Amino acid sequence: MINKIHSLGGYIHEYQKSVANPQAFWAQQGESFFWRKRWDKVVDWNFDEPKIQWYVNGKLNITENIFERNLYTHGSQEAIIWEPNNPDEESRTLTYSELFVEVNKFANTLRRLGVGKGDRVAIYMPMVPELAIALLACARIGAIHSVVFAGFSANALKERINDAAAKVLLTADGGFRGDKITPLKQIADEALTNCSSIETVVVLKRTKSDIEMVVGRDIWWHKAVDGQSEVCPAEEMDSEDPLFILYTSGSTGKPKGIVHTTGGYMVYSGYTFSNVFQYHAGDVYFCTADIGWITGHTYIVYGPLLAGAKTLMFEGVPTWPDAGRFWDIVSKYQVNQFYTAPTAIRALLAKGNEFVEGKKLSSLKVLGTVGEPINEEAWHWYHDHVGRNQCPIVDTWWQTETGGVMVSPIAGITPTKPSFATLPLPGVQPVIVSNEGKELTGNSVEGNLCIKYPWPGMARTIWGDHERFRQTYFSSYSKMYFTGDGVKRDEDGYYRILGRVDDVINVSGHRLGTAEIENAINEHPLVNESAVVGYPHAIKGQGIYAFVACGELSTGGEDGIRKSIMQGVTKIIGPIARPDLVQLVPGLPKTRSGKIMRRILRKVAEGDATNLGDISTLLDEDVVEQIIDGALVDV
Ligand code: PRX
Repeated sequence: MINKIHSLGGYIHEYQKSVANPQAFWAQQGESFFWRKRWDKVVDWNFDEPKIQWYVNGKLNITENIFERNLYTHGSQEAIIWEPNNPDEESRTLTYSELFVEVNKFANTLRRLGVGKGDRVAIYMPMVPELAIALLACARIGAIHSVVFAGFSANALKERINDAAAKVLLTADGGFRGDKITPLKQIADEALTNCSSIETVVVLKRTKSDIEMVVGRDIWWHKAVDGQSEVCPAEEMDSEDPLFILYTSGSTGKPKGIVHTTGGYMVYSGYTFSNVFQYHAGDVYFCTADIGWITGHTYIVYGPLLAGAKTLMFEGVPTWPDAGRFWDIVSKYQVNQFYTAPTAIRALLAKGNEFVEGKKLSSLKVLGTVGEPINEEAWHWYHDHVGRNQCPIVDTWWQTETGGVMVSPIAGITPTKPSFATLPLPGVQPVIVSNEGKELTGNSVEGNLCIKYPWPGMARTIWGDHERFRQTYFSSYSKMYFTGDGVKRDEDGYYRILGRVDDVINVSGHRLGTAEIENAINEHPLVNESAVVGYPHAIKGQGIYAFVACGELSTGGEDGIRKSIMQGVTKIIGPIARPDLVQLVPGLPKTRSGKIMRRILRKVAEGDATNLGDISTLLDEDVVEQIIDGALVDV
């Protein structure tokens, strides 16, 4: 059993304990799990190299903690409840025992394909139970999974496969999303024209799309699994053996392969899941994320399954067949904890109350949000219309790099405030730092959010580039992990996340590097250079505004070029990175030393050209005038 907090006093007590003696605190949490060999030391760390090791020399397998540890008590209970894209298709459930069998069979399949401990397996799949099975099968045999969100392009998939040098790719013929089909195998084939490390592609039949199978490389999932043994001994892993790689965007162009390891991630995902959502045995928990993102890894798969929970997986989208789909699912399965992103709440709010009113939502006990700041209007709508004023909202702040929730209310225990992530979880030591690197103590302060002590779920490195890991997170402020977020601590000591302070934008809860989008735009033959900034967007939180300087505007005129730039980004990265607005400009505002003054572009994109600050270092002030004149938002 994972230790649970039951009261505000309990939270304060645990928090104080975790700061006074982090080692004792995390040792106690580690005790809740099954280790083949106990750790010698709880933590060994410094933020200079940086070196971060938790449960040092502990030996375990995370799937033994999901299955063997839970089977006696939970064997016949549902582990995964799966709701298909189309409400008319039959749903599926897998009990812990059934899931265990599937995981073992697929783990044996992977072993037969020559996959062993430490090998990388790329996964590009729709939201079907086999996706969760794939993750767990990798973990069973010690292979490192690298899930690539099924909305990414062939090019993005290729980059990620090559960076990790994956040996096997798991995909499907296609994926259903609302009334559309994503041709996953076709996209994978395109990616694989340039991926020399891939030996085998395992293809799940889902959409029955007409696809090509490459002889000697591609095999059908069902055929590969057929006849495999239902027993697969778990590989013994060291606490610090990598469990998975997950790519995320940073302020430079190339995506970063964030590496999470086994022991610490297990303890952190299990502990935070049980506590933040206050999950009780028998509850049905529904997280609407895609497993292609960290939220899905930690809070659809690992956290809930470690806690022996019933986790609901939904294949489709919130607005199909209509904007009441989430609420139909909540009512169909009597969901108790519901976890989604503010962008989804805003999108549903915009569709009107008729889709939520009249739905049977009385089973709901806890509502959660993640991925971006939640505005007060969305918070209140969620609270009043979905939660019927009965459910606490947990606004959970965390990141791909943190592995699990860091700052959040404990459901029903921490008093909430709209749009505040409230207080750090036990074991998390946030600090607010000025731009000059000075720690801002006390309340009513605002600055950069850093963490000054390690926690078990934190990333250990960037795959193949530890120096980039150091530079990105540990070089801005001495001896601290820098999150990239701005934050305010109010008069009550509550934290409110203000958004990114670096060149990362958050579009519909998806994190995108502006440099990554600019690189894609610059591939267009007519583009000389570009600058991308975020701007306030009613549904997406931030929209993508691209300022693009072109040479000749011959083919198809301005509209044609704008469209082909947008299509180019979709092709190179994926639809999530497609700019909402493309303004063709005569040039970009630059300093005499050639640096783009993004501050000015951000102001214009925000529709405020009144206070551009000091522009005396600008090379050419006329360019700014022209940009303001041609702005695509009201300035
Ligand atoms: O800016 C913060 C924002 O999302 C970023 C992390 O993105 P990603 O690694 O994709 O992980 C998203 C899911 C964990 C953060 O740096 N963010 C995440 N949660 C919140 C948030 N901003 C405000 N409030 C939140 N609750």
